[in-house]
Amino acid sequence: MIKVENLHKHFGGFRAVDGASLEISPGSITGLIGPNGAGKTTLFNVIAGVLGPTSGQVTMDGEDITGLPPHSLFEKGLLRTFQIAHEFHSMTCKENLMMVPSGQSGEALWNTWFGRKRIANEERALAAKADEVLEFLTIDHLKDHRAGQVSGGQKKLLELGRTMMVDANKIVFLDEVGAGVNRTLLNTIADAIQRLNEERGYTFVVIEHDMDFIGRLCDPVICMAEGKVLAQGTLDEIKANEQVIEAYLGTGLKNKSGT
Ligand SMILES: Nc1ncnc2c1ncn2[C@@H]1O[C@H](COP(=O)(O)OP(=O)(O)O)[C@@H](O)[C@H]1O
Ligand SMILES: [Mg+2]
Repeated sequence: MIKVENLHKHFGGFRAVDGASLEISPGSITGLIGPNGAGKTTLFNVIAGVLGPTSGQVTMDGEDITGLPPHSLFEKGLLRTFQIAHEFHSMTCKENLMMVPSGQSGEALWNTWFGRKRIANEERALAAKADEVLEFLTIDHLKDHRAGQVSGGQKKLLELGRTMMVDANKIVFLDEVGAGVNRTLLNTIADAIQRLNEERGYTFVVIEHDMDFIGRLCDPVICMAEGKVLAQGTLDEIKANEQVIEAYLGTGLKNKSGT
C-alpha cells in the first residue's frame, strides 16, 4: 500500500532519516519502534506530507505521493493523527468530529444561497456519522463534553475518531498513542484499532514504546535506529535481532512493567 524508498530527511548536516526503505502492506497493523531520536516521527512527518523529504520516494498503491501536502494525502485516505488544536478545546467532542473536512459542500459561500436544503441534509448526515463514531469508540457519553476537558486517553480516542470521519480507504499513522494514557484506556484504544482493522479494513502504522501494546497488535514490527531501518519481523524476531539489541543498549527494549 505504501512503499518508502531510500528516504532521506536532513536538518542541516544532521541525518534524521538516513536512507530508510520499507513497505506497508494493506490490511496490516505495522509497528514502528526504535530508540528515542531514531527518526520515527520524522519519517511519519515526511510520509504524511508535513515535512518535505531531502531525497527519496514515497508511493501509495503505485502512485508517487512524495511531498504532496497533508490535505491532498488526507483526501486519498492517508491520515496522520494530530493533537486536537487548542482552538478546538472549547468545542464539544461531537463538534470536533463534525469539523473534519469530509467533502461537505457547506463551506462554499454560494452554497449558502443555492443549497440550503442540501447543507441541512449534509449537516444531519455528518451529525449522525459523528454519533456513530463516538459509539464505535465507546465514548458516546462524552459527546457534549468540551474536548479540552476529557482525559488524555479519551483525547487519543477522539483523534482516532477524526480519521473515521473521512470517506476513503484508510491508512492511519499513530505516533505514540499510548504516551501518558492509563492501562484501561490504552486497552480501549487497542480494541478500537483492532476492530477498525478487522471490521473496516483500516491499515495502521503505529509508533509506540509500550512493547505489550506492540506485541498485542502489530505484525510486522519494523525497528529503526539512526535514521535507518534495522530490521523487520515479528516482535519476537525483532527482540532477538543482534542489531536491534545493540541499538537499544543503554536504553533497553522493555515492557512498561519493566520486565
Ligand atoms: N525540525 C528539526 N530540526 C532539527 N533536528 C530535528 C528536527 N526534528 C527532529 N530532529 C532530530 O532528528 C532526530 C530524530 O527525531 P525524531 O524523528 O523525533 O525521532 P523519534 O521519533 O524516533 O524519537 C532527533 O535527533 C531530533 O533531535
Ligand atoms: Mg517520536
